[in-house]
This record gives sequence, structure tokens and C-alpha cells, in this order.
Amino acid sequence: MSLFDKVYARQQTDSLKWDKLKFVYDRDNVDGIIPMWVADMDFAAPKSITQAIQKRLDNPVYGYSFEGETCTAATIAWLKQHHATDIEVDWVLYHQGVVPAIASVVEAFTAPGDAVLTTAPIYPPFFNSPKQLQREVVFCALDEAQGQYTLDLTKLDAALAAENVKLFILCHPHNPIGFTWSNDELRQIDALCAKHGVLLLSDEIHSDLVLTGTHTPLLKISAHKDNVITLFAPTKTFNIAGIHAAMMFVPDADKRQQLQTTMQSHAQGGLNIFAMAAIEGAFSEEGATWLAELKDYLRDNIRYTAEQLNAIDGLYVHENAATYLMWLDYRETKLAEKDVMARLLDAGVALDPGTKYGEHGNGFLRINIACPKETLEQAVSRMKSVFM
Ligand SMILES: Cc1ncc(COP(=O)(O)O)c(C=O)c1O
Repeated sequence: MSLFDKVYARQQTDSLKWDKLKFVYDRDNVDGIIPMWVADMDFAAPKSITQAIQKRLDNPVYGYSFEGETCTAATIAWLKQHHATDIEVDWVLYHQGVVPAIASVVEAFTAPGDAVLTTAPIYPPFFNSPKQLQREVVFCALDEAQGQYTLDLTKLDAALAAENVKLFILCHPHNPIGFTWSNDELRQIDALCAKHGVLLLSDEIHSDLVLTGTHTPLLKISAHKDNVITLFAPTKTFNIAGIHAAMMFVPDADKRQQLQTTMQSHAQGGLNIFAMAAIEGAFSEEGATWLAELKDYLRDNIRYTAEQLNAIDGLYVHENAATYLMWLDYRETKLAEKDVMARLLDAGVALDPGTKYGEHGNGFLRINIACPKETLEQAVSRMKSVFM
């Protein structure tokens, strides 16, 4: 039995995934619905994290703090060991989360009316956050053929050339589709952004969840490091999103200063004491052992889900190379999204509708398969009942 087989009751724990269903799906009765939407896992975090937090709790004085050297050292060592990438101490800034960090970057390096470019479909804060800050959002849609997505670099070149585009946000690996970028694509994206003087923001929160192949941090191969800002965090990987923590790697000193000034103007940035402890517990040998086991479990869940759903006429789901999020194509069924969503909820499963990721997501569903097998089997059987 795997440690990930254990079913935890998450109801009434103020869990966004479990306790907000009524609100998110606008439904009176959500009893028994299995939530497979927001990207958090129904698994316990590794013991090394609990123990690190416990150790900090044991000294019951919780006053103001600053990020100590050990937290940064653990992060840098992790990047070196797991991604063969050198991050310099000075490059590291902290924030309360990756999404708050995106907002800070948008604020620091673009002005209202400027445009922010990203791919489509895409994780919603990539467009919502700039829009809320009165920036224009421009999409470079990914091309899709038989479940494989690619970015047309000629199209990207043209989009980056637009006068008012100041920032390109890359999702690396990609949410919601779960693919990884090749080194060649990364080099070309890096070169195109530099050519057009467009700042490249690489959100690498899912980098430790690459299940097939390896993750190449943009900073490992960038020829224009001063034009790149990377966002990184242990929160998806170790299922500690509720603890709120993120790192920003900013090689260019002027950009670092500009970003810090923006964050300080809102009294943002830094980490709370429990986040610091959690990071040290995560980026450890025990954390790495736990993660290797988790990835095996996720690979099994992905294989199982693909096998089951691909056996149904009209459905196609690719076995994703990264993340625990699967992108199910139901376009052949010709069903409308609102009908599919209603039927799925009636059957007892809550997935993310594809259009949440922009109009290019129409005809797709995002499935979070990070749950014990027992839960997954039940949920997949409910999904099948809707499409059979
Ligand atoms: C690409 C991406 N960035 C950021 C986040 C969320 O980051 P945070 O919780 O640190 O704001 C997610 C969550 O799913 C994500 O998929």
C-alpha cells in the first residue's frame, strides 16, 4: 500500500477544493460530489515539512522575521541538485505566492494600457491579473493536433513585435495542458523576447512535477538572463499551497530593485515563519524521497485515467508529461460545455470547464487526478457514466 492511498477527510477544513463547491459551481446540493478542480492534492505533505513546522511551533514566540539564509540555501541547493541550475543568492526574492508575484511583475514592468502577452488556453491569473491592473491582454493561441499542442514561433515573433507588448508570461511546464517545452523552444522564446525587448516571465511552479523527461529551467539555458524573471515555489509539488510561499529569481540588479520597490509600496514580499520552515522541510532529502514516490503514484493515476476515458467514444485525453492536471477533449461528442458540466455534477464529480482557461479551452475539461486511487476510480466511473 502506498502512503498516497490514505483517504483524508478534507470536508469542513476550510478547504477551497472541498468546502467551496456550492459557491464555485453555484449549486445547492453538493453532497458527495468529488472535487477534481483546483490544483491541490488530497495527499498529506511529507513528514519533513510537518516536522520543520512543528519545530518552529515549539518555540512559542512568533514575532517578526526575515528570510534566513538557510531557506535560500535550501532553495539554491534544490535547484542545483534537481535541475542542474545555478541560482545566485542575490537573485532570490520572496513573495506570498506565485500569483501575487505575477501581479507584482506586471505592476513593476508595465504601465496601464501596455499589453501583456501569453499563450492560450492558459492558467486564468495570467490574463485576469493583468486585466485587473488595467493592462491589455494579448493571446498567442497554441496550435493543437491530435492532443499535441505547439506554439507557432513565427506567430509569437509577430505578436511580440507589437509596440505596446511589454511582457510575455510563459507557463513552464504548462497548465492546463500539462506539456513541457523543449530546450529548442525555450531558446527560441528567450531569443524572440530579447529581440523585441519584451520581458520574459517564466512561471515554473510545476517544474518539480515533470513526470516524463526533465525540466529545464529557463535560466539554465537563457542567453539573455537579464531579460528573464523566474517564479518558483514548493507549494504545488509538496501540496502546501495553504502555507503561501514563492520565490522569484531575478538576475538583473536594476530589475530586482524595481520589483522590490513595487512590492514594498504594497508592503508585500517576504515569507512568514511557517513558510520558511516548510521550504526547508520540502527542499530536503526526505522531501526528495517523498516526491519520487508521489511522481510514481501520479504516473499510475494518469495512465489509469487515460486508459479508462480513451475507451469512451468521443473522448480523448493525452497522458500529460507534467503536472497532475489532465486535459480532456470531448469536442467529438458535440455536447455544449454547460450541459457537460451539469451532467458531471449530477453524476457527482466537479471538474474545471475548459473555458475557464480562455475561449480556446471550449470542448475540454481539466481533471485534477491527485487523489487516492479509491477516490479516482469512483470519480472516473462517474465521468464515464456521463459520456457512455
Ligand atoms: C502555473 C501556476 N502558477 C501559479 C499557481 C498558483 O500559485 P500560488 O498559489 O503560489 O499563487 C498555479 C496553481 O495552480 C499554477 O498552476
